[in-house]
Amino acid sequence: VHKMTDLPLAGQRVLIREDLNVPVKHGSVSSDARLRAALPTIQAATAAGAKVMLMSHLGRPTEGELAEEFSLAPVAARLGELLGRPVTLIKEYLGVALDLADGEVVLLENVRFNEGEKKGDEMLSKQYAALCDIFVMDAFGTAHRAQASTHGVARFAPKACAGPLLAGELNALEKALATPARPMIAIVGGAKVSTKLEVLSALSVTCDQLIVGGGIANTFIAAAGYNVGKSLYEADLIGQAKALMAKVDIPLPSDVVVATEFSEQAEAVIKPVDQVSDNEMILDIGPETAARLAAMLKDAGTILWNGPVGVFEIDQFGKGTEIIARAIAESQAFSIAGGGDTLAAIDKYAIADQVSYISTGGGAFLEYVEGKQLPAVAALEAAAAY
Ligand code: 3PG
Repeated sequence: VHKMTDLPLAGQRVLIREDLNVPVKHGSVSSDARLRAALPTIQAATAAGAKVMLMSHLGRPTEGELAEEFSLAPVAARLGELLGRPVTLIKEYLGVALDLADGEVVLLENVRFNEGEKKGDEMLSKQYAALCDIFVMDAFGTAHRAQASTHGVARFAPKACAGPLLAGELNALEKALATPARPMIAIVGGAKVSTKLEVLSALSVTCDQLIVGGGIANTFIAAAGYNVGKSLYEADLIGQAKALMAKVDIPLPSDVVVATEFSEQAEAVIKPVDQVSDNEMILDIGPETAARLAAMLKDAGTILWNGPVGVFEIDQFGKGTEIIARAIAESQAFSIAGGGDTLAAIDKYAIADQVSYISTGGGAFLEYVEGKQLPAVAALEAAAAY
């Protein structure tokens, strides 16, 4: 794969695909982590004298429809603040010869407004390619999508290369997963086993220990023969859970935090895992379990974290996730974290500086961990082969 940092960019029309898909509330960006992650790439390109066109998707609009709520306007505004210079949002750019000054940066409107973007349409890919001399794929978070702006354009652009953010993410993931310092411990939380089955199965081979949390853990607790009451769990996946437990050490909670309702006012009660009643639901791991897991994490060589271990958005069910987060922060291990909820937990407990690498990817991060080839990376490899 070619790298942006190896190419002369001065005076070149450089089209950079970023993942600027950030949450927008009341017309402004509510979490700009992905924008901040893209800044070094943008700054390197403008400093080198490139004419920079940024492109990204936002949300999942109906293709071909220009819905204002999915406009990148709030992203352009926030990017402008972060860069300390205005970033113009260009609404009409297909088939248009954009006239940019060297070092200028503009943002192209949501690529998912364009017909054919999601299916990777060839005509559209060629129209993107015609905008530039160099295409830079820097959107790790969207690298698992074979769409026109992530994949198709790389085939037709005069030159296609990986941007620093994408290259950095791939490096960090490779470091964590190809030759991990041992023991390697993965923490996979979240609501459902069914959505994380492939990643759990991949990690059961590569990890020394696999910590499960949230609704996922409930299915394992049920598989171990305990009553989970009204907890969210997937009865049809108990067999899969048992098979995973036979492959890798999955330390189950010895105590849990339960409540009879799922609400901010719910009263949290700590119980041994074998004493959950029919009218209770498990919403967090208990203090004894959290302390035991934290001790394991302190001695880890590599930690991979995706998903909270409890309903951390509600404080009385957040202690488990907080203790795990702090243990990761204090551990000497190479730690890598990814996924939207995980990033929210990292923000909530303010441990971002103490995690070795925070991925900007959600789905892309999981697919990488599953060992899948990311289509956008494959397209860069193919482009570099010519
Ligand atoms: C993400 O947020 O995971 C990426 O931006 C990809 O978005 P998508 O799932 O809508 O393709």
